[in-house]
Amino acid sequence: LPLHKIIMVGSGGVGKSALTLQYMYGDFIEEYDPTKADSYRKKVHLSAGPSSSAGGGGGGGNAAAGGPGGGAATECFIDILDTAGQEEYAAIRDNYYRSGEGFLCVFSICEVESFAHTQEFRDQICRVLDDEGVPFVLVGNKADLAASLRKVSTRDAEAKAREWGCTYIETSAKTRQNVEEAYQALMAKIRDR
Ligand code: GTP
Ligand code: MG
Repeated sequence: LPLHKIIMVGSGGVGKSALTLQYMYGDFIEEYDPTKADSYRKKVHLSAGPSSSAGGGGGGGNAAAGGPGGGAATECFIDILDTAGQEEYAAIRDNYYRSGEGFLCVFSICEVESFAHTQEFRDQICRVLDDEGVPFVLVGNKADLAASLRKVSTRDAEAKAREWGCTYIETSAKTRQNVEEAYQALMAKIRDR
């Protein structure tokens, strides 16, 4: 099966690990334990997106298309690299980024600084990969927190995503809101490249 490598990026404490663990194991971790780098592997079923109907054009990967007919889903492995948001690890990011096919760029909707930082992550990724079109999803996490705690509007985040030509999704690692969707959206972009 094909193996796709995705990388979690974003400031410290925004919920990269919590999203990853919720996606992997369906668990929410309350404690904050800053990450150095952890990797996870999961077998996933990708539901076929609208663009995959152009099936004849897809190059390569034919070996994986031999599943039983009828189901439009394709299977693959997803490798998730959960990186450190904290600044002291910034220097080692270049090396991680080189190995990524797609990026979930996470901020907390309750922390303006973490939203501002997404620009630096985006810039560093595009520079290292020399690719403005790299599969990329902007994720506004902690959507379960009280509306009064929100510091970044959906409109501002959507505007940023438009500027980058990527998708914006609001998630909660706590309630699992849109967690599956965020990873699926990224996988769809990787597959449709
Ligand atoms: P680094 O590893 O330092 O880069 O941080 P991180 O981005 O991995 O953050 P982590 O997932 O460890 O979460 C930080 C804190 O925020 C933890 O206490 C989590 O429980 C909490 N948290 C993460 N996601 C959510 C969420 O969606 N909602 C709420 N309410 N809390 C969250
Ligand atoms: Mg972490």
